[in-house]
Amino acid sequence: MSDRTPSQQAALDRSALLEQRVHSEPHRFRVLSGDRPTGPLHVGHYFGTLANRVRLQNIGVEVIVLIADYQVLTDQRTGRDLPATVRGIVADYVAAGLDPTRSTIFTHSAVPALNELVLPFLSLVSDAELHRNPTVKAETDATGRPPTGLMLTYPVHQAADILFCRANLVPVGFDQLPHIETTRVIARRFNERYTERPLFPEPAPLLTRTPMLMGLDGHKMSKTRGNGIALGATEDETAAMIRRAPTDSDRQVTYDPARRPGIANLIELLCTVTGDEPRQLADQIGHRGAGHLKQELTGALNKLLRPLRRRRMELLTDPGYLDRVLNAGNAHARRLADETLAEVHDALGMTYPNR
Ligand code: TRP
Repeated sequence: MSDRTPSQQAALDRSALLEQRVHSEPHRFRVLSGDRPTGPLHVGHYFGTLANRVRLQNIGVEVIVLIADYQVLTDQRTGRDLPATVRGIVADYVAAGLDPTRSTIFTHSAVPALNELVLPFLSLVSDAELHRNPTVKAETDATGRPPTGLMLTYPVHQAADILFCRANLVPVGFDQLPHIETTRVIARRFNERYTERPLFPEPAPLLTRTPMLMGLDGHKMSKTRGNGIALGATEDETAAMIRRAPTDSDRQVTYDPARRPGIANLIELLCTVTGDEPRQLADQIGHRGAGHLKQELTGALNKLLRPLRRRRMELLTDPGYLDRVLNAGNAHARRLADETLAEVHDALGMTYPNR
């Protein structure tokens, strides 16, 4: 988070400009964003994308959120108990403030026409391009196995996720930038090759101020690693996870991401909640030490999440409501995907009876 590469910094700068345009003309933007239901959403999702989606919805941007259930298959270690995970994620979304009467929440598996777009899109990327994607490489390495075809083509599926509804804005963290680049390439090539007037927009990534939160073990916060604090965790569970987070033996709290990553990560998390600046916060805590830092973080996070967690519990007592939210979102997504696929068929010259 603190040591950005020049290209990451450039992406952040572009996002800041884009942010201004979104504010002045919210109705020109359609956001598509998604999560893989490999486990419960955690605070990294909340700060990284979820809070951002809610904010965009509330300034009048159209927001469509995908629960990418097919993409769970890219990592076969996970994805057990999908029904509970998916309903839990719908509850997380609604509890965080996504309003199902304004925003769309749907699952991959409910929208055949979206998945069908993967076929023509696959023809627009080369094998070498697929092998070069750094995020796919990192995810493959994490599984310890050679990549499946689904893993290798992950960015193409993600392009279908984004382009099926012709979204032009995708709020993401740094790790997703290569996928958005592939999406842009596919949109551009499709338009150049098959249409006179562009059918697909080239969607822009929108980075948040805290795009990449570390997990409490210093690795990227991930559902698979179980190193993030679940949004639905209890206050005691939250306290326990923070207590176990690795620090070091230096008594004084200082902000030094390179030499003291554990402490720096806790400071960054706390700053994300409070809006403070890391160095100042470290100075304030100073000699009171890591234990105090952890107490402050626990208190701040639990306080922030308390209303969300209460609402989440209520929602989970009414699975019928959560299913109605999904059914309505799925129906809307199917309409959008059918429209796009029909135009794709036309562009490809498949104009004989095929629907
Ligand atoms: N790849 C994203 C992740 O791992 C999830 C995702 C799937 C997504 N499809 C998407 C994100 C489309 C943004 C847009 O978190």
